[in-house]
This record gives sequence, structure tokens and C-alpha cells, in this order.
Amino acid sequence: MTPGQPPPPLSIERVLFTAEQIDARVREVAAEISERYATRGVTLIGVLKGSVFFLTALARQLSIPARIDFLSIASFNPRGSRPGMVRIAKDLDEPIEGEDILLVEDIVDTGLTSRYLLQILAGRGPNSLAICTLLDRTSRRLVQVPVQHRCFEIPDRFVVGYGLDYRQHYRNLPYIAVLRHEDGWK
Ligand code: IMP
Repeated sequence: MTPGQPPPPLSIERVLFTAEQIDARVREVAAEISERYATRGVTLIGVLKGSVFFLTALARQLSIPARIDFLSIASFNPRGSRPGMVRIAKDLDEPIEGEDILLVEDIVDTGLTSRYLLQILAGRGPNSLAICTLLDRTSRRLVQVPVQHRCFEIPDRFVVGYGLDYRQHYRNLPYIAVLRHEDGWK
């Protein structure tokens, strides 16, 4: 969507997870993470912009010391390249060598983005590296990635809300919903 265009009409087909359901599940996953990293604390790495809502909710529920950093990625499709290639558009502010890293994702879909990010982060010498995702859509996976923590498995439908967008809209919805039309698929 180019700036200045009106937003698409809110065309929600159904709510998949309410704000209350998300809140309850985030608390459970935060408890898992707090236990896992109890001795050393954790560094949460969020992928802009989709994981911001989830990361901040998760971080507030942790009972252990946590550092936070962000990176952002951009699609990268030079002629002849495979679809789904991405590059880092904004890198982390801090080095991660020796840190216990939890990559916080909005959704793991094909797995291509997560695999790329894991490779990049692994090359920087963290003590450990794991993935926590709000949503997991394993039915569309193209490459296997280890997902250690996830809030919800979802069906093969395009979803918006709680950070997830359709053309940069709907991120601020407090719930997760299926769009009325399947025109959301990129
Ligand atoms: P993957 O590389 O195919 O796993 O895709 C990951 C990225 O695709 C996510 O971080 C989202 O930005 C985007 N994405 C995948 N499915 C959806 C969806 O249903 N709604 C909104 N964004 C999605």
C-alpha cells in the first residue's frame, strides 16, 4: 500500500483468538521461558514490526532478567533467486556473543525467514539460540526449523491482528482474526 491511500475496510471473517485467550496463553509460555532460562536470563530478539506486540506482552510476564533487541528484514528478490529470500534491513544494536538468545516471531509460516535469521544469529556465537513464536502454521512449512515455544498452531488461513498485518493495516487489533477474503495471501 502506498502512503496516502485509504486503509482497506475492516473485513474480519472471524476472531480466531480473543485478547483474553492470547493473554492467558502468553502467561503460560512466559512461565515456560522463565523456567528454561532461570539461571542465566535471556535476550529477546524481536523481528520488526510483526513481533512487537507479542514480544512486549511476553517480556512483561517474564520473572527472569531479560534484555531486548530488534532487527528488521526486507524481502530480497534478485532475478533468478528463490522466493522467500530476505536480507537484514536493520541490524541488532548489541553483539550477542555468549548470550542466550530467544528469537521472538509473530508467525512461523514456510520457515524460510526463521531459518535465515537463525543462520545469521548462530554465526555471531551466542551461548544458545531458540525460537518462540506467537503463531505456528506447520501445514505450510517448506523448511524445518526448531520451534521451542509457541502460543498457538493455526489453520491454513491468512490472519491479522496482535502485530500481524495486511498491507501494514490491522496490526493494532487486540485479537487475532481471519480476513473475510483470501486476498490477504501475499
Ligand atoms: P515465513 O518466512 O514464510 O515463515 O514467513 C514469515 C513472515 O511472513 C511472518 O513474519 C509474517 O510477516 C508473514 N506472514 C506469514 N503468514 C502471515 C499471515 O497469515 N498474516 C500476516 N503475515 C503473515
